[in-house]
Amino acid sequence: MQRYLLLSALLGASSITFAEDRSEAIYLEKCASCHGRELQGGNAQSMVDGVWQFGGGDGDLTRNIKFGISAVGMPNYEPSLSDDEINGLVRYIREAQSRAGAERPPLPETLPTRDYDVKVEKWIGEGLRLPWALTFVDQRTALLTEQPGRLRIIKDGKLDPKPIAGTPPVFSRGQGGLLDVAVDPDYATNGWVYLTHSHALDRKSEKGETASMTRLVRGKIVDHAWTDQQVLFEADPATYRYTTHHFGSRIAFDPEGRLYFSIGERGHQDDAQNPNLPNGKVHRVNRDGSIPADNPFADGVKGLPSVFTYGNRNPQGLATHPATGVIWESEHGPMGGDEINVLEGGVNYGWPKITYGLNYNGTPITDTQRAEGMRQPVSYWAPSIAVCGIEFSQGDEFPRWKDHLIVGGLGHETLQRLAIADGHVMHTEQLLQGAGRVRDVAVDPSGAIYAVLNGPAIVIRLTNGGVARRQ
Ligand code: HEC
Repeated sequence: MQRYLLLSALLGASSITFAEDRSEAIYLEKCASCHGRELQGGNAQSMVDGVWQFGGGDGDLTRNIKFGISAVGMPNYEPSLSDDEINGLVRYIREAQSRAGAERPPLPETLPTRDYDVKVEKWIGEGLRLPWALTFVDQRTALLTEQPGRLRIIKDGKLDPKPIAGTPPVFSRGQGGLLDVAVDPDYATNGWVYLTHSHALDRKSEKGETASMTRLVRGKIVDHAWTDQQVLFEADPATYRYTTHHFGSRIAFDPEGRLYFSIGERGHQDDAQNPNLPNGKVHRVNRDGSIPADNPFADGVKGLPSVFTYGNRNPQGLATHPATGVIWESEHGPMGGDEINVLEGGVNYGWPKITYGLNYNGTPITDTQRAEGMRQPVSYWAPSIAVCGIEFSQGDEFPRWKDHLIVGGLGHETLQRLAIADGHVMHTEQLLQGAGRVRDVAVDPSGAIYAVLNGPAIVIRLTNGGVARRQ
């Protein structure tokens, strides 16, 4: 690296240009298929949003490129690239990062869509770190999680600078951390707030990795403090996994007040097919953690009593259909094969036996996309948008979008509207693109739509700026 710099300095600008061009060519040949041509992310994460899950120093980047991150499908380039070429790539990433920071276009004030001119505002513009989930307590009050482990209050559109003290410690590594937040359907009378988070054991693997799994707790917020905590779901320690990805997780309630929450397959794809393991599932419990008598494996004979559906890869979206009360789910596919599913108890959604996805190296995961006894998604994306939070549009703000599904995508930095009729997706409209990675979607009681973004860490609000009058 030093030698390169010295050489560049001696030879002048032309050699620098030459070296940069070469890095770009290497990048386009070896990295763009997963990380995107503009480094914006796609099937693997963005490298220009300032978020580094595996370390953001030059040394971390060099190590991750050289040795790969095998558990998550990042290849190792030691065999094919020299140290100088890897250093060149690190510099290329840095330059793209600073360009992207400078060049992200300002948010549009108005967004013309098929039905409305939508007013776009930055609702929470600063003070957040990796915001993960947003939910409304009432029209004026919202709760928001930050993945590193903070629960925040937003009142009248202002972020309370003081996080809630005493929330459970989280395993904040990779995709792990504080995940979803939800308020009890009877919050006004009982005050319960529900959280899912990555939970670590003291146990380590031979390589020193920490055993972890997604856990569900509830508690109350009193004077900025988390109190009365109850653990509602904690998996058998024997089933904890050593990876740091695919934790899920979202929470939703059905009209009977039962609670659904998701756990990703933790990178152990075959676990998703085994109803006796907690990962790769959507679970259903009563609000006190007890098991509903009509759960598909309630007797615990052929599966865990809490399991509601299985064969789910990494569900990071759950939403309750306002009219039918049925739970809709989004799950990340690999390359291609992001899915929207309508959940039904005891059903196998097929991962990894059937999928529309490809492995990160481009080979098909399976040539089987349908199978007897395995449910098809109602909709899927190929290539993946890295589908994440979902919520149904309700309330008076956007009457023409009543019961449409608003969907966020991380990789493609997209917010989409899926028009739904009779449980089918009739058409899809892209609402917003390129404002940031969309981690979560929320709708307030009046019907305004919110998108929680990562890189920039902000929350955007969409309201009705008038019915579209276009030819
Ligand atoms: C086959 C797909 C694939 C290719 C090709 C690939 N990567 Fe990755 N890379 C991944 C995945 C998957 C991750 C893990 C992060 C994630 O889940 O998106 C990752 C992670 C990384 C990270 C760590 C990111 C962090 O958050 O800390 C760096 C740096 C990186 N890749 C650089 C590169 C470079 C440079 C190249 C080309 C030489 C490359 N990658 C090629 C799939 C790929």
